Amino acid sequence: MAKPLTLPDILKKKQRGEKLVMLTAYDYSFARWLDEAGIDLILVGDSLGMVVQGHATTHRVTMEQMIYHVEAVVRGVRRAFVVADMPFLSYQVSEEEAIRNAGRLIQAGAKAVKLEGGQEILPLVRRLVDLGIPVMGHLGLMPQRVQAVGGYRTQAVDATSREQLLRDARALEEAGIFSLVLEKVHPEAARAVTGSLQIPTIGIGSGPHCDGQVLVLHDMLGLYPDFRPPFVRVYLDGGRLVREAVEAYIRDVRQGTYPPSSDA
Ligand code: KIV
Repeated sequence: MAKPLTLPDILKKKQRGEKLVMLTAYDYSFARWLDEAGIDLILVGDSLGMVVQGHATTHRVTMEQMIYHVEAVVRGVRRAFVVADMPFLSYQVSEEEAIRNAGRLIQAGAKAVKLEGGQEILPLVRRLVDLGIPVMGHLGLMPQRVQAVGGYRTQAVDATSREQLLRDARALEEAGIFSLVLEKVHPEAARAVTGSLQIPTIGIGSGPHCDGQVLVLHDMLGLYPDFRPPFVRVYLDGGRLVREAVEAYIRDVRQGTYPPSSDA
């Protein structure tokens, strides 16, 4: 049986120059396929609010829903390191609530939690890390703040915002995060952050210079019908394959060719 990946294994990968590969998953079956394929990290992302639940943003995802999905994913995983997103309002209201919610995700089987934010979440990150809860950071485009930044546009494009990104990244590293997601950050800014941190960066739509990459599973499998970010490489025309399979099944049932007659 594959040995479960640990935090030190993840940090060693950066030291050895090995890329980290992460995908999102939200249920048992996909988690099993990803794990068997050899994925390093699985993120139970609050992107489930969009690709599973059909909302326009991630804001409606609740703690109860995250716990439900984390438990399902963990049941399918032998080796991968499972990270759970802390959903909107689960860590912003008070430190006490945030600690309890992070703890519930760990109780559900996650190995770490992911929080969006920079300087403003440093005290919370320190507290969680002190309590033994590994934290993954998330900078650049932060979907929980999409209204405030005016949409899904590339971040850290000008010198001032690049410096701010670098300051936030260094401060988060100092506060104890073990890894940092950089979402939709200008590739040169992602290169600068990656080069200045000891911990691995994991990019999404941030170019090739990060220590690893993450994609939303439904995007890379072509399963999300509404929208596909331009940086996504689509590895399967999943939506079309599903539709064709279902059309074939409908045809077979309507024509009486499925189920076959018992003497066929
Ligand atoms: O929720 C999510 O899927 C994420 C990824 C986009 C990194 O946070």
